[in-house]
Amino acid sequence: MAPAQAVKVFEVGPRDGLQNERQQLSVATRVELIGALAASGLQHIEAGAFVSPRWVPQMAGSDEVLRQLPGDDGVNYTALVPNLQGFQAAQRAGCREVAVFAAASEAFSRNNINCSIDESFERFAPVLQAAKQASVRVRGYVSCVLGCPFSGAVAPEAVAEVARRLYELGCYEISLGDTIGAGRPDATARLIEQCARQLPVTALAGHFHDTWGMAIANVHAALALGVRTFDSSVAGLGGCPYSPGASGNVATEELLYLLHGLGYSTGVDLQAVARVGVRISAELGIANRSRAGLAMAARSAGEQHP
Ligand code: HMG
Ligand code: MG
Repeated sequence: MAPAQAVKVFEVGPRDGLQNERQQLSVATRVELIGALAASGLQHIEAGAFVSPRWVPQMAGSDEVLRQLPGDDGVNYTALVPNLQGFQAAQRAGCREVAVFAAASEAFSRNNINCSIDESFERFAPVLQAAKQASVRVRGYVSCVLGCPFSGAVAPEAVAEVARRLYELGCYEISLGDTIGAGRPDATARLIEQCARQLPVTALAGHFHDTWGMAIANVHAALALGVRTFDSSVAGLGGCPYSPGASGNVATEELLYLLHGLGYSTGVDLQAVARVGVRISAELGIANRSRAGLAMAARSAGEQHP
């Protein structure tokens, strides 16, 4: 039998998830959450964001979070940085990987990071330069790849152009963000095909929000076209503070259930992630948004009390 193909799962719950939850968690609780996610086998965890605490108060204390994470457990702990100031703070906290975030829509760029797309690239260039000197890896995000909350439709060509610019600047991987979670699998396929004309499909990641319930279907469409990295959030936490009405990322539990069922290997224990999802939802005082997580919890309860 051929060995299972590997898919990289990039857990973004502690950043993309928590940044949009009403309740702000303490540094200690965030560190504990990240530790439990790492213990479930996740090898890539976005642990915080070095952005203005006035813009995103939930990410205040990211420096402390990153400082308290183990430096020698082989897990890739990353953080968002919008500019050189953010990069320098991330470096002081010991980050070995950061992510810059651009948008495919001018309106979103202005609302999210207070500058145009071109200006954002002027801010990213010194980050990439400093990161190269310090051997820090840089990931790139493109937001609004399947629609913008402010200006509506976004052309796949516009997304591919921003993705190419990030890749050429030195980002090793480009995560395509359906920020408002409006895309369907047909549009996702057109998007991936367009981007794969500009950069290797192996350098693309899918980042699907689930506002319209299409996130897991979009993962399936992107998988079929060769994408092998997906961002997800435990318990489907989150959204984006600058994307009104958007819901959380595809739940890590749903992603693992799909991938394992299709025969892909991830190195992640679904049951362990589901337990973390139950705990963090209770901590936040919200309903668990992962249906696979809920199903897993119900099954475990049934096993304990047949
Ligand atoms: P600005 O006001 O244009 O910045 O904000 P500025 O350079 O004019 O500086 C103003 C103040 O911000 C100054 O402080 C700076 O020191 C401070 P003051 O002198 O007034 O006291 N400042 C900073 N503070 C902390 N960290 C920094 C930093 N830079 C400047 N790095 C800025 C520009 C980018 C800072 C602001 O717009 C911001 O923080 N935005 C937050 C954006 C954000 O985090 N959005 C959510 C994440 S993106 C997302 O969720 C989408 C994604 O998931 C993919 C998808 O789903 O599509 C990635
Ligand atoms: Mg997002």
